[in-house]
Amino acid sequence: MLKRKDLLGLIDVSASEITEILDLAQEFKNRIKRGEKKMRYLDGKTVTILFYENSTRTRTSFEQAAKYLGATAINIAASSSSVAKGETLIDTGKTLDAQRNEFIIIRHQMGGAPHLLAKTVKASVLNAGDGVNEHPTQALLDMLTMREVFGSLKGLKVAILGDIKHSRVAKSNLFGLKTMGAEVSMFAPETLIPVGIDRLGAKLCKSREEALDGADVVMGLRIQLERQQAGNFPSLGEYAANYGVDEKILECAKPNAIILHPGPVNRGVELSSGVIDHERSHIEDQVLSGVAVRMAALCLLHDANKA
Ligand code: CP
Repeated sequence: MLKRKDLLGLIDVSASEITEILDLAQEFKNRIKRGEKKMRYLDGKTVTILFYENSTRTRTSFEQAAKYLGATAINIAASSSSVAKGETLIDTGKTLDAQRNEFIIIRHQMGGAPHLLAKTVKASVLNAGDGVNEHPTQALLDMLTMREVFGSLKGLKVAILGDIKHSRVAKSNLFGLKTMGAEVSMFAPETLIPVGIDRLGAKLCKSREEALDGADVVMGLRIQLERQQAGNFPSLGEYAANYGVDEKILECAKPNAIILHPGPVNRGVELSSGVIDHERSHIEDQVLSGVAVRMAALCLLHDANKA
């Protein structure tokens, strides 16, 4: 049973907790696919979505998840809130607590911001991406998508290529996939590999071919242009030619390997258009998995914190 107030990262989430979230998410995904939109497990509850960074998928899917569950969803963009007048994160949290919000979903440019907020508020806090630290619900939706195709995560070979250094998605996937018994290989220019990632269980590869050899899952990561310091690689064209995945490189993976990407994609950079639109690409299916995983996380945290 999930027994925690908040979901801040996958670093300390057990295999049984991940399985519980994925099982419920699969049930919700099946129900959404059948056309159900009213599953009133959180009737009367309030979910506040507090984003200090841009987002399309995560913000809208949390909003949709809250609405499918019968909760009220309130969106706060930092640029149009009192944060722009200098209000601190803690004071913002206290205000939301005073309004009796049951959940706060936060995306923040600083690693650790959700953890600080969670210590301050009574509401359950869900990390929707903090700096280069973690993005737990993204990794959970990636794992749901993989598990739906392959039936189990145990023994799966997952190749992650792209801007690993700046990727909270890579870290949450590494933690979650290792916990579930999958193997994770990574490839990127040396300048985009964070120090110590191999000590967390990633196999660092010297080439795209080595990373994809025998892979069941090929995950591209966005080159995060907004977080780059000059000089990590010569140009986007050279990145695509030497580090990106096109249909020819894809042949190094297993013939039934699936393609994932958390989005947004730099089309033609980390993945070629042919790979993004490939018949084995599950990038659009990941988006539906995202709604279902966020519904499951909200429901299970709610059950864990019922008075
Ligand atoms: N995958 C992801 O976090 O996308 P958004 O930035 O659009 O939310």
